Amino acid sequence: MGLKTLFGIKKYQWKKSTNKFVAKTKIVFSKYPRDDFYQISEYFWRRELSSLPESAFLFRLSHDIPISAKIVEIGSWLGESTCLLASGLKGSDARIYAVDNFIGYVSDPLARTNIKRDCSD
Ligand SMILES: C[S@@+](CC[C@H](N)C(=O)[O-])C[C@H]1O[C@@H](n2cnc3c(N)ncnc32)[C@H](O)[C@@H]1O
Repeated sequence: MGLKTLFGIKKYQWKKSTNKFVAKTKIVFSKYPRDDFYQISEYFWRRELSSLPESAFLFRLSHDIPISAKIVEIGSWLGESTCLLASGLKGSDARIYAVDNFIGYVSDPLARTNIKRDCSD
């Protein structure tokens, strides 16, 4: 099986499980912009760092915080959680500060390989 086919299958599986998850959480998600959630998750789909429930939690949290809120995220890595948290910010004073020393993952050989792959996009 070629890499392209494998990639296509993985993407298909990701779409299927994400659509199922979003449909299942329709009642909880009804007041949230689910398309935004889908778009952010789709952008980061290959990173597989967070589970869908974890991502959905951050997304909902960001939409429930007050206007002009300030968020400090320690350990933003490549920014998936940062985007999810930033998506719900409201007001021109709202800010998100993302901090990472990039030591945690860079000392892991597998992560080093992954970051090279992820940053080549
Ligand atoms: C599991 S990853 C974060 C994943 C990210 N939140 C996401 O959803 O894409 C943890 C990150 O925390 C960072 N980290 C660990 N200790 C840290 C510290 N003391 N200061 C800043 N960043 C730190 C690591 O470099 C790593 O990138």
